[in-house]
Amino acid sequence: MNRLEKLLSQMSIHDKIGQLTQYNAALYTKTTAEITGPKAKLGLTDEDLAAAGSILNFASVQEMKDIQDKHLQNDPNKIPMSFMMDVIHGYRTIFPIPLGLGCSFDPEIAEECSRVAAREASASGVQVTFTPMVDYVRDARWGRVMETCGEEPLVTGALAAAQIRGFHGDGMEKPGNLATCVKHYAGYGGAEAGRDYNLVEVSERELREYYLPGYKACLDAGAPMVMPSFNSLNGIPSIANPMLMQKILRQEWGFDGVVISDYNAIGELLPHGVAADQKEAAKLAFENTCDIEMCSSGYFHHLEALIKEGIFTEEQLDAAVMRVLKFKDQLGLFDDPYHGADAELAERLFLCDEHRAVVKKAAAESAVLLKNDGLLPLSEKLNKVAVIGPFADNHGINGFWSCNGKDEDTTTVLQGVTALLGDDKVVTAVGCGNLWDDNDTAGFAEAVAAAKEADAVILCLGEPQNYSGEGNCRTDLRLPGMQEELAKQVIAANPNTAVVLFNGRPLDVSLLHKIAPAILTMWFPGTEGGNAAAELIFGKRNPCGKLTMSFPHNVGQCPIYYNHPNTGRPRWRSQPDHRGYASDYIDCATLPLYSFGYGLSYSNFQYSDLILSSREMTMDSNIQVSVKVRNDSDRAGKEVVQLYMRDLVGSVVRPVQQLIAFEKISLEPGEEKTVSFTVTEEMLRFYDMEGRHISEKGDFTLMIGHADHFVLTEKFQLV
Ligand code: BGC
Repeated sequence: MNRLEKLLSQMSIHDKIGQLTQYNAALYTKTTAEITGPKAKLGLTDEDLAAAGSILNFASVQEMKDIQDKHLQNDPNKIPMSFMMDVIHGYRTIFPIPLGLGCSFDPEIAEECSRVAAREASASGVQVTFTPMVDYVRDARWGRVMETCGEEPLVTGALAAAQIRGFHGDGMEKPGNLATCVKHYAGYGGAEAGRDYNLVEVSERELREYYLPGYKACLDAGAPMVMPSFNSLNGIPSIANPMLMQKILRQEWGFDGVVISDYNAIGELLPHGVAADQKEAAKLAFENTCDIEMCSSGYFHHLEALIKEGIFTEEQLDAAVMRVLKFKDQLGLFDDPYHGADAELAERLFLCDEHRAVVKKAAAESAVLLKNDGLLPLSEKLNKVAVIGPFADNHGINGFWSCNGKDEDTTTVLQGVTALLGDDKVVTAVGCGNLWDDNDTAGFAEAVAAAKEADAVILCLGEPQNYSGEGNCRTDLRLPGMQEELAKQVIAANPNTAVVLFNGRPLDVSLLHKIAPAILTMWFPGTEGGNAAAELIFGKRNPCGKLTMSFPHNVGQCPIYYNHPNTGRPRWRSQPDHRGYASDYIDCATLPLYSFGYGLSYSNFQYSDLILSSREMTMDSNIQVSVKVRNDSDRAGKEVVQLYMRDLVGSVVRPVQQLIAFEKISLEPGEEKTVSFTVTEEMLRFYDMEGRHISEKGDFTLMIGHADHFVLTEKFQLV
């Protein structure tokens, strides 16, 4: 009998159930917790709380140690609690929201950022982070798109695996590293009408093709924990969904790690209407192999009875508890229940130069230059620059899931520009400070005057941080408040106006696209956002981000995504003016305003010589594809070379384009590089009507470029 088995053999049923519960630290230190309310409402006793196996969200190292010490004093088995938190895009030094970071197409940057977060969070007492979030998305109305890497599973998987490497570091048992939890399994991003927590209806084929690969990539990268999603999937909430939890996760994928419910998700089986009471909810979750119940109390109240009634065996309980004990052992908690938490170290790490440098690079490489008529980069020699708008000097640019990040730590665009040019060259005006007020024009005159006085304007617009994130969905994707009107007046006063956006989702920027000569989206860039923006605007850095989620022309196009299937009546690209009886709109384009993969640079990259090693692929041979990329400009720059394919005829309708590989390269002025990809038979596979993951013989097109603009194409056959 090993150490853990021995431990398990001496535990009472109540002790065991304790290991399967997690509560908010607020229930230990204050009187109530968000959503679930006070412990009395949850029917929890002090003994229950003392027996609970893990905690989420705590305020300080001291609080964590106090809770742990008290627990260890009382726990007859001396099993440490584990401490978990949402460390999503930084702990105190904040890097771009995941939707932004994805646009870097840069796993190395994602890994570096995760290291920064892991070091700060671990020193602060966190042992497990509820990240990566890999929900596949197509609908910009959904507030949680900001937490995702967008509409391409390949990019999502690559970035998430990099994050996991970054968080786990040289071993999750070591201080400085965190364990990860992949979420929200599965399909949460398909919420109908882009409304959070709403039902998701997708076919199993669609689910497997687009939604599941992100989660699977995380398990392959070693994520030890999985969090099922809040939504119902094809009629059954994930936590109670046998197909998702038992068939796919545990059996097909062989996942033997810990499953933790989302916040109160077991309790929410009641309002979903699939459980009549808490006991039934606990039964549904436990039989679908949910190990830890987060924040509700169905397991504490009913699991013992369910075992006594013979619904479950004690062996089943033991199996779940053993998964949790093994996880704690993996975390090294039996040797060090504080996991190296060190408040002084944390203070030294927070916002240190090294961490700031990492997040600044990440912010710059995540920014996407959406439009540039030649205005950008601005010259540092300009006499006067106006930095205008509600985001000109706005510190609220960390983004929704910024953990312990503080707004006051961020640099604003005004600060960044002033640092580059000096005080005397910069004027500023807010224009319309109240984004919740559709009549706020009080600052317009001052903004217009500042614009007139300047040689160029940097107009900083956006959404407040809490317009995206959990529960923050929108039916209008335009800039809130009077910002569009402000843009009209400022651009009329000074046509040399570059717009800088701060946003947690793709916005409807159709008006800006028409009237502004340049648009740069910074997303929510985090601590160094303002400095990064200034360096991009003045050409100290060259934009290289590419969209991972399409910007629609307007909200009516949602959901919209690049890898859509063809219809029988497509709107042919070669006939852009053709109208009637085609799959399109009479009042809007069919394609997005800015598509997946799109993003400009100050360099000019030329592609040539797309060469295939063969025009025939067999089931066990690959094709080598190479392309030349030349930087035809006098600026060094980075380019994301994107390889797409289309399967021209399939037994099920295939997408018109599908990213199969990408590589980010750096090119000096005038430099040319050859980029090579290996196209394998596996890349051509899809799920057929029988659920088989297969490739089919026939013709394929390979395309280089971004999703709605291919510069080079070639054909080959799978024989
Ligand atoms: C969110 C999760 C998060 C959890 C714990 C839930 O409301 O859906 O993403 O990890 O809370 O904070």
